[in-house]
Amino acid sequence: MKEVISQIKAMKEKLNKWAKEYYVLDSPSVDDTEYDFVMNELKELERQYPELITEDSPTQKVGGTISEKFSKYKHEKPMLSLGDIFSWEEFLYFNKQVSKVTGTEDNEYFAELKIDGLSISLNYNNGKLVTAATRGDGVIGENVTTNVKTIKSIPNTIDFKGKVEVRGEIFLPKKEFKKINDQKMLDGEQLFANPRNAAAGTLRQLDSSIVAKRNLDSYLYYLIEDEKVIKSQEDSLKEISRLGLKINNESRLCKTLEDVKKYIDEYTIKREFLDYEIDGIVFKINDFDLHEKIGYTAKTPKWAIAYKFPAEVKETKLLDIFPTVGRTGKITYNAKLEPIKIAGTVVSAATLNNAEMIKAKELKIGATVKVKKAGDIIPEVISVIKNEEYDKLPVWSKNENCPNCESLLEKNDGEVDQFCVNFSCPAQILRSIEHFASKPAMDIVGMGGRTIEKLFEENIINTITDIYKLKDKKDQILTFDKFGQKTFDNLIESIENSKTRSLEKVLFGLGIRHIGSKAANILAKKFDDIYNLFSASYDELILIDGVGEKLSQSLVDWFEIEENKNLINELDDLGINLKYTGNKTSTDGSLFGLNFVITGTLNLSRDDYAKIIENNGGNVISSLSKKTNYLLVGENPGSKLDKANKLGVKIISTNELKEMLGEKYV
Ligand code: IVH
Repeated sequence: MKEVISQIKAMKEKLNKWAKEYYVLDSPSVDDTEYDFVMNELKELERQYPELITEDSPTQKVGGTISEKFSKYKHEKPMLSLGDIFSWEEFLYFNKQVSKVTGTEDNEYFAELKIDGLSISLNYNNGKLVTAATRGDGVIGENVTTNVKTIKSIPNTIDFKGKVEVRGEIFLPKKEFKKINDQKMLDGEQLFANPRNAAAGTLRQLDSSIVAKRNLDSYLYYLIEDEKVIKSQEDSLKEISRLGLKINNESRLCKTLEDVKKYIDEYTIKREFLDYEIDGIVFKINDFDLHEKIGYTAKTPKWAIAYKFPAEVKETKLLDIFPTVGRTGKITYNAKLEPIKIAGTVVSAATLNNAEMIKAKELKIGATVKVKKAGDIIPEVISVIKNEEYDKLPVWSKNENCPNCESLLEKNDGEVDQFCVNFSCPAQILRSIEHFASKPAMDIVGMGGRTIEKLFEENIINTITDIYKLKDKKDQILTFDKFGQKTFDNLIESIENSKTRSLEKVLFGLGIRHIGSKAANILAKKFDDIYNLFSASYDELILIDGVGEKLSQSLVDWFEIEENKNLINELDDLGINLKYTGNKTSTDGSLFGLNFVITGTLNLSRDDYAKIIENNGGNVISSLSKKTNYLLVGENPGSKLDKANKLGVKIISTNELKEMLGEKYV
């Protein structure tokens, strides 16, 4: 045992050192395979000896705790904000105010990028991260410790005796933001407007295992130590870094006003090449002794200022407004723009959402419009320029008919979106087939948009079931441009492979309203077979954790339609699997969305088992109900066992739990 303990200790030290090099210092000394190898070895050891798992183990950065809501946290010192300026002239004015105290206009400033994220306060006590709290109103924030503990660049332990508070910013790198929004798009969910919103939404997630997957990052810039041995902002950052926390390396000491100006000019250009968003530059008087002298207003320090970048807004011509039909029949209006470069990329299109929005902005085709990239990423038409030319242009009016099938568009009272309600609208059918074949659904490789469009145009595919009859149309398909025997064979092979996908893929692929991939997963796991789901009532569905009113109603409605019943039967006849074939716990070995109750005497403490379950995304609740999925029993279980039997809750032993989790038993 002693040997195992020291082995685990050595591995943890190694991994923590490598993680710091990788996530904090950006200079890894080993490659990923070596890191993964040791990580897996540690996981295996911890699986065998769960009693040796400690909070500072690198395996614990996976989250799993589900919070009901966040508790309030009162900051020991208020978290201040910054005054804003928008031009060089304003900076000179700010410097003049400072000079009244310092007696000179040649002040030494420390320049830092203003990271566009959320401020965070980290409190360490004797080297342990005890609380992490958001800014809130500056005095009282929210305790988000569990979530922050999953952030890889924030160490759960540091080498420091006594109490220390470090403040900084939590943010989502641009590429992580894109990844999340791409997935949301596939799941038909509302997108995050910008990385800042995405970071805020993530940090306030109640399920910390979701936070762990989102790859938030951090830069710290403010150290509060009671001894007051540190004398400048420059040294403060060095100390933060020495403690093992991440600092931003673009910051710089500006000894003269020319240096300040140079920094502004440099980063006005460089900002678009950074892999995180910044909304300005913060200039701080470097010398801490001067801070007290210069002082504070109620909300902001007078020794620092935020220079904000002007928003990247450009003018261009609105060439056209055209509607498109989505899978659900929803009409989205799009703007065709005269191409223009904004924040480093060429923009030639933007979404205008619905007709109401176009009317509110009084847009006209041919007018000059102001365009910005919201969050520097998604282009948005902000407003129209009302000049003489504008007055001469005809007023824009919305489409009354579907741009694809010509049928009359409908709009529900109180809603803004127009819908094409013709179920046989070609555009909708095409989009639904595309969705069914897409990666998160049936994942039919080689069946992308262009191929489907062609097959649709040629009348070979008119419904999703036609996909499985493609092999009989070989002669016709081989006449297509660039469609040789090999391409055809590969396509047929991936169509055949798709027949064995697990139920959640089919369910998601059917495109039933409100069923994203997450809901499909929960339903497939719960009902096992599509025919069970078929006969589920609204009352039964609504009881499931993660299934809401809209979703339940939508499912019941969908299964009531005769055509849909026939579709399922036809898919079944064609040999498409309609059963859940994944691990009963989840396809990725987690217990996501499953509720456990623990009873009886177990070989480890209940808390340990709760931790194992929560670390894998499951919930541990105290009392049994219809929503309970599993009762984990030890010796002398008592009355809960009878109750579980009555409710039909599945009863499992610790060994069965171990089997369910396989290698994730950590
Ligand atoms: S200093 C008293 N430095 O900007 C010190 N703030 O508008 C106050 N921010 O709430 C903060 N990067 O969330 C500072 N390098 C940086 C920053 C920064 C981003 C945020 C911070 C603050 C807000 C003020």
